This record gives sequence, structure tokens and C-alpha cells, in this order.
Amino acid sequence: RYEKIWFGVAVLLIVAFIGTVAYGAVGAGIEMVDDDGGTIDPNNLSDHERFGDTGVHQVGDGEFEVNMIAVHPSFIPNDIEIPEGSTVTFYMTASDVTHGFNIAGTNVNSMIIPGQITEITVEFDESGTYGFVCHEYCGSLHHEMEGQIQVV
Ligand code: CUA
Repeated sequence: RYEKIWFGVAVLLIVAFIGTVAYGAVGAGIEMVDDDGGTIDPNNLSDHERFGDTGVHQVGDGEFEVNMIAVHPSFIPNDIEIPEGSTVTFYMTASDVTHGFNIAGTNVNSMIIPGQITEITVEFDESGTYGFVCHEYCGSLHHEMEGQIQVV
């Protein structure tokens, strides 16, 4: 009978997990994922296959990925340049505390949390400079935590 109880708990956890992921994806086009179903060590991001290699990476025709670390009071990288018409997927994590990520002129508005990956895909169809800021209080220099995306 213990097997039955554990099976029930496992089913509940799976249903809850799927529900959480589905809600996040449908709700805002944003998905919080653990790395390969595991965890990320916020204190050892340099060994992580994605966050050990921060910056902009072209992955296809007009497709880019940005691996970003938020650490008070900076985003790494904080000055991003991509061609007009690009589709950019941001993969973000934090190494210290919870931060925010809000790109002006878009509907991007998310949290960046230690131990998790925040994944957001954005199309940049118009050239210009898009500023982004941390909008979650994270320390004394919170107001200086910002960067820009130059679409050229
Ligand atoms: Cu980071 Cu506020």
C-alpha cells in the first residue's frame, strides 16, 4: 500500500508540473525550466554548458540565442547587437538574488531566478535601440541595473 501512496504522489507531482509549465507558456509565452530537469548551481555558472558561454550566438538564419547572467548590479552581457528582423531567444539565470527583465517597447517582462532558466523568445522587426532594465528590487544599485539591445 505504500507503493500506491507513492504512485499517487508521483502522479500528482507530474500533473502539477505539467500544469505549471502549461500555464506559464500559455499565460505569457514564458517558460521557467530547470536545466535538463535538474538544477543549475548559481555559484558555479562558469561550468554550465550555456552560462559558461555568455553572450550572443547565431544559431540559424536570422536566429540568435543570448545566454545571460543577472548579477547585482549588472546583466552579462548588457550591450547586445543583432540584425533587424532577428528572432532572439534569451536564456537567463541569476547567480545571486532574484532579478527582473523588462525590455522597453516589447511585452517582455519576466523574472530571473537563481537555479532556474528563464527562456523568452522575441522578434525584433524594427531597428532601433531597446533598453532593458531590472524591475525587481535586488539591492542598493538596483536602479543602475540596465542594458540595451541594438537592432541594426
Ligand atoms: Cu537586479 Cu534589480
